[in-house]
Amino acid sequence: MLNRRNFIVRSVLTGLGFSLAPGSLRAFSLNPGLTVRTNGPVVVSTWRHGLQANEAAWEILGQDGNALDAVEAGVRVCEADPENLSVGYGGLPDRDGHVTLDACIMDEKGNAGSVCFLENIRHPVSVARLIMENTPHVMLAGGGALQFAVSNGFTEENLLTDKARKIWEAWRSEEKYKPVPNIENHDTIGMLALDANGNLSGACTTSGMAFKMHGRVGDSPIIGAGLFVDNEVGAAVATGQGELMMKTLGSFLVVEMMRGGMDPVDACQVAVKRIVDKVKDLENAQVGYLALDKQGRMGSFSLRKGFDYAIQNAQGKRLIDSAHYVSG
Ligand code: GLY
Repeated sequence: MLNRRNFIVRSVLTGLGFSLAPGSLRAFSLNPGLTVRTNGPVVVSTWRHGLQANEAAWEILGQDGNALDAVEAGVRVCEADPENLSVGYGGLPDRDGHVTLDACIMDEKGNAGSVCFLENIRHPVSVARLIMENTPHVMLAGGGALQFAVSNGFTEENLLTDKARKIWEAWRSEEKYKPVPNIENHDTIGMLALDANGNLSGACTTSGMAFKMHGRVGDSPIIGAGLFVDNEVGAAVATGQGELMMKTLGSFLVVEMMRGGMDPVDACQVAVKRIVDKVKDLENAQVGYLALDKQGRMGSFSLRKGFDYAIQNAQGKRLIDSAHYVSG
């Protein structure tokens, strides 16, 4: 476990609860938020599946490897896991039965690469990195992204596992699926890392909302919505219902709040509050932000209870519950 002396635990939230949408959600008092501080290299990532992903990232970071290599290696673990229903291989398909993937990556120089609506490639994050490093562009989509991937040696394969297909078939036949926040207790894997040289990088990757319309793209490949890294300040990543982060460019907002001096929890809270203020129907919505600043402070804030994030550094690993607005 992490050395408790390396953590600063702080009550940061003083506001009162409020209603998210008239008549839809009860008002709750704000929960205490935790700001966590660590020294030296560290990796943080969204949800419990981040624990396993962080281990792969730490193999690189713990040997003074760079943050960019670490976040790519880390999220690839979830992309390859057939049991993970919300990322990469084994992800739940869209309503027409296609597994379509979104991912992006940013390095400490502010370079960005992104891929969206990509089919049949197991590791979209690595395609995103290649776009960042080998093309003059930031984002490739759909068939063009697939063509680019294949021409660069990626192998095409069917990403729809039997398990995911059966869940999709049950949804089609019974039409009983309703999105429920946190019911699967995981979503996008978003990862942020600070390396031994003090450099930040980030990545996120997802198969997106289950049973979405064919062609739907979420926040995860949108630089500034699903992920933003500014090596002078900090980095942020988002998880949850992508449409909400796309309307508010939340990850960029979190980093800008940190630039203004806020700590990561407060900055994430501002981005969640922006959604609450600007977006009308949040009845079945969940959104969470996770941030890591240049000083090694980290924290998160989500709309609802249930979001957690994983941290790993030289002292060990740990899963931390996010501060949140509402418990229902
Ligand atoms: N946050 C992932 C998505 O909405 O696609």
